[in-house]
Amino acid sequence: MSPATTIKKTSASRKHLKKFPVERADELLAPSRAAILDPQIVFGYLPMRVYQEIADIGCGPGYFTIPLAKYAFDGKIHAVDVQQEMLDKVQLGLDEARLTNGIMHLSKESKLPLDDDSIDGALLVNSLHEANNPGALLKETRRALRRGGWGAIIDWRKEDMEVGPPTDARLSRDDAVAAATEAGFKIISTYDMNHYEYVVLLSR
Ligand SMILES: C[S@@+](CC[C@H](N)C(=O)[O-])C[C@H]1O[C@@H](n2cnc3c(N)ncnc32)[C@H](O)[C@@H]1O
Repeated sequence: MSPATTIKKTSASRKHLKKFPVERADELLAPSRAAILDPQIVFGYLPMRVYQEIADIGCGPGYFTIPLAKYAFDGKIHAVDVQQEMLDKVQLGLDEARLTNGIMHLSKESKLPLDDDSIDGALLVNSLHEANNPGALLKETRRALRRGGWGAIIDWRKEDMEVGPPTDARLSRDDAVAAATEAGFKIISTYDMNHYEYVVLLSR
C-alpha cells in the first residue's frame, strides 16, 4: 500500500474518534506519569535550544508545555489545542510558574493557527492519534516549521495494553511514519520511548 493510500484510509476512519475529555485533564498532569513519560528525558532526545520557538501541538493541559517554557526561557512556546478549556489550564499553569513565554492558540482541526516558517520545533505527544486527519495535521506542522526545523511524534503503540486509549483509536508507528513522509518530512529515527509509546523524530 502506498503512503498516500495509507493516509487516506487512516483519515477516513478517524473522524468518529473523541478528543481527550477536559474532565480528565488531571490524569494528564499526574506526577506519576513521569514514571512512563518524563518530559526531561524526552527533551534529552530533541535538538532543542533555549532560544527556540517550539509548538506543543495538542498540548492538553500542559504536561509538556510548562517544562518546555521553563527550558526555552529565551524562546517562545506555542501551545496549540482544539479545546479552549485545555488552553485555559495551560495558561493557569504558566501563570502559577510565573512564565511569560507561552502563547495560546485555539486550533481548528486540520488548520494550524501558526504562520509559515515561524517555529523551530514541534512536539506532538499523544495527540496525532486524536486528529481527524493525521496527514493534514502533519502537513500543517511542516508548513509552520522553519527550514531545518525538527518535529517529534510520541504516540501509543497500536497494541492491547492496560493503559492508554482503545487499540482501535491508536495510530500505528507505521501509519505515523507514512503520514509524516507523505507530509514531506525526513524521518530521522524512530524507536520505543517506553513500554507503551513510540517516538518518531522528524526534520523539515
Ligand atoms: C491525550 S491529549 C495529550 C495532551 C498532551 N500532549 C499530553 O501529552 O499531556 C490529546 C490532546 O490533543 C488535542 N487534539 C486532538 N486533535 C487535535 C488537533 N487536530 N489539533 C490540535 N490538538 C488536537 C486534544 O484536544 C487533547 O487536548
